[in-house]
Amino acid sequence: MAFVNENFLKLQKSYLFVEIAKRVEEFQKENPDTEIIRMGIGDVTLPLPQVCIHAMKKAVEEMGDPSTFRGYGPEQGYEFLREKIAKYDFNDRGVDISKDEIFVSDGAKCDTGNFQELFSNDAKVAIPDPVYPVYLDTNVMAGRSGDLVDGRYSNIKYLDCTYENNFIPDLPDEKVDLIYLCFPNNPTGATITKEELKKWIDYARENKAIILYDAAYEAFITDPNIPHSIYEVEGAKEVAVEFRSFSKTAGFTGVRCAYTVVPKKCFAYTKDGEKVSLHELWLRRQSTKFNGVSYIVQRGAEAIYSEEGKRQVKELVDYYLENAKNIKSAMKEAGFICVGGDNSPYVWVKGEMNSWDLFDLILKKCGVVCTPGAGFGRCGEGYIRLSAFNFKENVKKAMDRIKNAKLK
Ligand code: MLT
Repeated sequence: MAFVNENFLKLQKSYLFVEIAKRVEEFQKENPDTEIIRMGIGDVTLPLPQVCIHAMKKAVEEMGDPSTFRGYGPEQGYEFLREKIAKYDFNDRGVDISKDEIFVSDGAKCDTGNFQELFSNDAKVAIPDPVYPVYLDTNVMAGRSGDLVDGRYSNIKYLDCTYENNFIPDLPDEKVDLIYLCFPNNPTGATITKEELKKWIDYARENKAIILYDAAYEAFITDPNIPHSIYEVEGAKEVAVEFRSFSKTAGFTGVRCAYTVVPKKCFAYTKDGEKVSLHELWLRRQSTKFNGVSYIVQRGAEAIYSEEGKRQVKELVDYYLENAKNIKSAMKEAGFICVGGDNSPYVWVKGEMNSWDLFDLILKKCGVVCTPGAGFGRCGEGYIRLSAFNFKENVKKAMDRIKNAKLK
């Protein structure tokens, strides 16, 4: 008899964004004339930068010529891309990361979801609340969560992020082995300073813990005092793995390209106390389970590091940041308390009812889709998240509808 992995049965019925899509589809069926504006899932709307299009077209031509055709690529990604990443995302910002420490992949979702496989099943995991649901769900699937009791898994250490602590979690009050951090944060848009990050690094070093740092939204940081990478803080290379993505930066949500930095100095341990290189384990894992990102896509990603590429990417990021600013000011005008949106494409909005009720109300009264905060964890209850990834005109229309609906 084939027994299922019963850990899957402990998950919520469906993944957050699948549940939202289902509700929106039902609403649209019942209200075919409503023009729905989607500000739920953080999916980009602007087309790819022209530099990427040119580079990918050229790469397609190369694939059609026997003298330049390429089959399987190198496991960690092509050197031409890893070199640019190391130089422009790290070295030029004073951070010593080498091209050999970078693993190109098809998404930060997969990497943040898969990386936990390298750790033992009894690892104690700390996860912020609210946060991107992938960290929790993948640990549930792996059997690390314990049972769901009153909406929380018994073996997970939740790191509460609330209005009172500026959505920056406190250090765990017990020993944990794995810590997920996400800055700029999805969903709250909160950012963290180097001084605050240093406390986490010190904690990890003292406890031989590993920090899994999701920096998928770093391109949206405008404040020069906020670190773009955890490796800007001393000591991080020994205890942190960092996840980055081209999805939101360069419009690659449908193209798929991301990367993960696993420094060679970063170690975890066997039960006998022997040091094991996470870099080597991840390479072993990836070369077994993953066959790399296509040559064409990696050429597209490389193009964003040219002078013109950087300019075009900045234009995209600025466009969405302008949307975020407009969302935040309109929602405040409509009477809501809002945070985020300054160094992030997400605005985190406090309502006066439960999140799913507010989601339904905004959908029904305004035809606008948001993401209910409770979908990101218990501490997200009472909030909604509005995504700035849309066309300027749609954002204006959505905000006018919300202001006119007098929801407060
Ligand atoms: C989100 O809306 O939180 C993101 O788009 C989800 C993702 O990046 O997978």
